Amino acid sequence: MKSESISAIKSLADFYDLPGKDIMQRAKEFKVFLDDIKDKKHYNYKRTSYGLATGTRMVKDHYNAHAKEMIYLSANDYLGLTSHPKVIEGGIAALRQYGSGSGSAPLLGGTTDLHLQLEKEIAHLKGFTTALIHASGYASNASAIMAMLGKEDVAITDMFAHASLIDGCKNTNQKFFKHNDLESLEHVLSMCCETYRTKLIIVDGVYSMDGDIAPLDKIVALAKQFGAYVMVDDAHATGVLGATGRGSCEHFNVYNQVDIVCGTFSKSLASVGGFIAAKPELIELLQFYSRGYMFASAPTPAAVGAALAAIQVTKTEPQIRQNLWANITYFKTNLLQLGFNIGSSQTAIFPIITGNDLVTKEICRELNEMGIYVNPVLYPAVPRRFARVRISLSAAHTKAQLDVTLNALEYLGKKYKIIA
Ligand SMILES: Cc1ncc(COP(=O)(O)O)c(C=O)c1O
Repeated sequence: MKSESISAIKSLADFYDLPGKDIMQRAKEFKVFLDDIKDKKHYNYKRTSYGLATGTRMVKDHYNAHAKEMIYLSANDYLGLTSHPKVIEGGIAALRQYGSGSGSAPLLGGTTDLHLQLEKEIAHLKGFTTALIHASGYASNASAIMAMLGKEDVAITDMFAHASLIDGCKNTNQKFFKHNDLESLEHVLSMCCETYRTKLIIVDGVYSMDGDIAPLDKIVALAKQFGAYVMVDDAHATGVLGATGRGSCEHFNVYNQVDIVCGTFSKSLASVGGFIAAKPELIELLQFYSRGYMFASAPTPAAVGAALAAIQVTKTEPQIRQNLWANITYFKTNLLQLGFNIGSSQTAIFPIITGNDLVTKEICRELNEMGIYVNPVLYPAVPRRFARVRISLSAAHTKAQLDVTLNALEYLGKKYKIIA
């Protein structure tokens, strides 16, 4: 096989395991694949950003010697709060008062009054009285599920649920239902009805690659019918959905009907760290059995201080969320008028579905050259026929920045024949 063609015929999926090859041989073969992507200027991963993220950002890619200002459409900082003065101040004040690290796991010395305050605030935001915070959303999701479900239980998971949720199900029985398909969910529930001790339906509130919303009200109703519990990951819904931005439960008015709400501080809440909100007795159990809580240090004070300030800003400055929704409506209307396939996007995440890996990579390469920062989403992350350019909007984007992006997409959409 010629090395020039390897990235056209292979994908990440081909390197998960290479039978008979040890890890160093596997790394060598993977390098050949990556080098080919780099040669084709399709390697737009891990570009280096400088300074604050606003609607634009200074970015250096792998092909040019200098950083340039780019329209920044790849952050999940939906409210633009990572550069909000009060959020930055919240982080700095916590850093000054509590120091740079938490020093220990939460049960063993890493808990400050600031950590407790954040647990209380996030619990309240999600309609509970108790919550746990972890150093990352991935760890909190995966380890909470591992702590809750064992061999006699079943996780009934939307097939597009986030990797952290899927990975948490490795020690239990896992059944998938078709994405956002209630008939499929009902079918899986009916098959599991008698067999398992705990039945836990696991969904994302907003799906990270499609921007669509889980029909939580109907999922909750089915759960009741079949005696199942519901866990929703509000990572991309927090700050975005609901009349006051509290997320999926507010959007569907199903407070007290969802058993576990999890999520992360790394998106709208402009910091880092994960949370699990649930009834006090479950939270108490998780403190001792969630390995990502027991065996990992508590989030840093700066991260906690910034997240607390961000929650406060979501309450006191609702205009920011309104700006986000004005951007979403404007961008979506224009994309649809231009004829793009944006799947069933309903939020700030826009998949521009090209249906072809190579076309997606070429469009992203050209957008990078034009100063527009987006990401390709390719097989195996999505099936090849759903390959897409992923765009996420924030309240910080200006109409002018959105117009530049729309013009570039129109030009490239016609060039690559994905719109007429
Ligand atoms: C839906 C979803 N859940 C969980 C996570 C993990 O969060 P974190 O980045 O805090 O580890 C992410 C994101 O990265 C996500 O998109």
